[in-house]
Amino acid sequence: MSSWWRDAVIYQVYIRSFADGNGDGVGDVAGLRSRLPYLAALGVDALWLNPWYASPQVDAGYDVSDYRRVDPLFGTLPDAQGLIADAHEHGLRLILDIVPNHTSDQHAWFQEALASAPDSAARARYHFRAGRGVDGSQPPTDWPSIFGGPAWTRTVDPDGKPGDWYLHLFAPEQPDLNWTNAEVRREFEDILRFWLDMGVDGFRIDVAHGLTKDPAFPDLASREAGGMLDAALDDHPYFDRDETLAIYEDWRRIADSYEGERVFVAEAWVADASRVARYLTPARLHTAFNFGLLGCPWDATALRAEIDATLGVLAAAGAPATWVLSNHDVIRHATRYGRRSHTSLADAKRLYGTPVDHALGERRARAAVQLINALPGGTYVYQGEELGLPEVEDLPPSVWQDPNRHYADHAGPVRDGCRVPLPWSGGTPPFGFSPEGATAPPWLPQPAEWKERTAATQEQDAHSTLSHYRALLRTRREWLGRGLGDGAPLEWIEAPAGVLAFRRGEVVCYANLSDAPVKLPAGHRVLIASEAVEAADGALLPVDASVWLVAE
Ligand code: NOJ
Repeated sequence: MSSWWRDAVIYQVYIRSFADGNGDGVGDVAGLRSRLPYLAALGVDALWLNPWYASPQVDAGYDVSDYRRVDPLFGTLPDAQGLIADAHEHGLRLILDIVPNHTSDQHAWFQEALASAPDSAARARYHFRAGRGVDGSQPPTDWPSIFGGPAWTRTVDPDGKPGDWYLHLFAPEQPDLNWTNAEVRREFEDILRFWLDMGVDGFRIDVAHGLTKDPAFPDLASREAGGMLDAALDDHPYFDRDETLAIYEDWRRIADSYEGERVFVAEAWVADASRVARYLTPARLHTAFNFGLLGCPWDATALRAEIDATLGVLAAAGAPATWVLSNHDVIRHATRYGRRSHTSLADAKRLYGTPVDHALGERRARAAVQLINALPGGTYVYQGEELGLPEVEDLPPSVWQDPNRHYADHAGPVRDGCRVPLPWSGGTPPFGFSPEGATAPPWLPQPAEWKERTAATQEQDAHSTLSHYRALLRTRREWLGRGLGDGAPLEWIEAPAGVLAFRRGEVVCYANLSDAPVKLPAGHRVLIASEAVEAADGALLPVDASVWLVAE
């Protein structure tokens, strides 16, 4: 039996937008617990929860003030314990999101650091440095924050004079920890144990490639310094540094000391699959998100190149691939694919707010999810994609919450458009997201058109995207070990231009990205298709559709 994490389907629960149990307009643990039967019926193997720790919520929980408490917005520690138990009872594993690169500025450590002297032990847990220039008024390096502006903020000394600067790769409210500090390392090992003792099955590591910094703090100078995606350089001062890998060797020993297979998944935006593979040795982490498809256009040649590159490198490393189409930081793929000739992430960003063919986007999204679920390895489902949800691109600026917008010099996209609360049932907002008699509307407004997209509506429709996901994941489970999942190698089959065709053991997959229907091989029966396909020999697979076949 293959290890569960090598081919798991993992559902990303963006907790504040999943289900609201107490009626305050924000999703919570109680809401999630009430919807576990839905997730079990969907057929996923595990849940990954975005951060639920105590937090001022400047960056939606990625600014943690206490790693051993659940934010009251989401519930209590006993609620969390109840959720872990309930999830396990539903056959679902649970992965938490650990945020080790930075804390909140409200974390006790950072408050202590601010109140302490420049050379104190309290400040040594973070990166405090003197500024440059005669009066220290220039930041210590030219590093930019990923959310825009400089990555340094100047402090004020107790006597009111300007003091040292501290590093924050993200918002100023997210000071970076110093991972050469032994206390920092011990503290996080203890936090891991705290939650592993409680029964969680693993962790997604936030900014896994960012923990250590070049102790010389060199300028980036002419080096490229875009977002996380551009962390493509050898010996980069703060991304993908060799020293970070040793931290994960310590973490792996901890996970392995627990019963059951407790796992890590790295959020590592590094140059390419070969750099990802460095994180995925048996002594380090188990898996990493493969972000290649996020920027890949709906194009057979580009997709095949991405698939081959990923599988080639990871197979050599002995690590399983993962396949990701969407998450809480990027434009939903139903929208990316709905922009006819511009479907890469970069293009989608450029074209934010321009017309989208929603029907086309949803159709391609179904074909894409059927394609990735036939590939070797595991897959991720970002909540709501099983309902075919599009990006909400017309949120008025008055409701935007993403801190990115405060620092970046752009009018959009902010990441709020993929974080709108889910529509569960009913004809008007909050569409069952909050209970009857809720005291507050959903924290982001839901489009009125989502009445067509509720889970309840789609459950009644055998041809809905939700029904497709359920049937797809059921079929995938049935064929694990007979080709799908972590099993058989992928063998490409010759096919017309624009068509991806491959065999995995007994299962054959066709994805038609060309502009004409394609003839399917004779002597096969259809296991499942993303659009109606005749079962007959020589049947045609329509454009923008995928099918799984087995020989009669
Ligand atoms: C990556 C997370 O996915 C994103 O939402 C967050 O803003 C940054 N890391 C900073 O923690």
